[in-house]
Amino acid sequence: MNKVVTCVAPVNIATIKYWGKRDEHLILPLNDSVSLTLDCDQMHAKTSVIAGPFIDEDSVWLNGQIMSIETNERLKKCFHLIRNLIKIRKGENSQEAKWNIRVCSENNFPTAAGLASSAAGYACLVYTLANAFGLVDEDLPSIARQGSGSACRSIYGGFVHWKAGIDDLGSDSTAIQIAADTHWPEMRIIILVVNDSQKKTSSTVGMKQAVETSELLKYRVQKCVPERTKEIIQAITVKNFEKFAEITMRDSNQFHAVCLDTYPPCVYLNQVSHDIISFVHDYNEAVGQIKVSYTFDAGPNAFLFIQQNDLNLFMSELVNVFPSEQPNSSYLRGIISTLPY
Ligand code: DP6
Repeated sequence: MNKVVTCVAPVNIATIKYWGKRDEHLILPLNDSVSLTLDCDQMHAKTSVIAGPFIDEDSVWLNGQIMSIETNERLKKCFHLIRNLIKIRKGENSQEAKWNIRVCSENNFPTAAGLASSAAGYACLVYTLANAFGLVDEDLPSIARQGSGSACRSIYGGFVHWKAGIDDLGSDSTAIQIAADTHWPEMRIIILVVNDSQKKTSSTVGMKQAVETSELLKYRVQKCVPERTKEIIQAITVKNFEKFAEITMRDSNQFHAVCLDTYPPCVYLNQVSHDIISFVHDYNEAVGQIKVSYTFDAGPNAFLFIQQNDLNLFMSELVNVFPSEQPNSSYLRGIISTLPY
């Protein structure tokens, strides 16, 4: 191969959160999760790959900085799994499996700020490598998962369900598409960037501590997530926005309650995040219906879901309360607005 292959992968936003692993090494989750993948225009990772006998060593550049593959177990694993797949598809002695690979990746949004950058990053890495070597395979989500759990959901567009599975080796822990993005074209996502600096406790560390110390996490995994997952998939299938929105908010709140129940606690939300939560509930109460919902990942930034018909009225209220830079609007489609810190 002597050409550069470039792909773009978008971030995905979970409405049922993945939090906690049943296997740290294979990155197998304790519970199912459900997410929406944004379109590629707004927040994405862009990765270029070149491989061949003429490349002197494996190297990965992220946002202009070289990364150490040797000390990065997840990166190493993704390279290894792709090379295995080449051998499976093209023969044990395939020369291509021995080629060195050069990777250059960039995010068009802040990295490690609780904006799902690792999901887009690993999904893009695995997808681009697979394309570069002509591999089209159902194993791609499971390889991306071993880079970062949530990355397996970014392999697909639209609405995605990552099944936790029960197999110790993870054969049944897969992402599947519930519905394409065209299924609910009125759906919009507003991203309110409250703070784009790197988070103090990474998701990987935060969820490990939660598994070790949180009683609430056990309750959530056993008693809440299974029912919620069924209900939200049903709500997505029939496009019941109120149901979808309520489950999304409840799950975000419970996830952050688990973070507080962790010892020592992981505090990802800040005062502006709490102001946004209050604002959304006040707004819904004032209009007498759930018209908008929020969810927060491991950071203070808000992801709001709303349908197109309700967008203008809501935005006019929002910018009154949270004056910000001109929001830039497009689709499932992210509208990114920056809030004051
Ligand atoms: C809060 O996928 O970043 O965004 O598997 O350790 O890389 P690792 O964690 P990661 O966790 C994402 C957690 C979350 C919820 C979600 O996206 O489901």
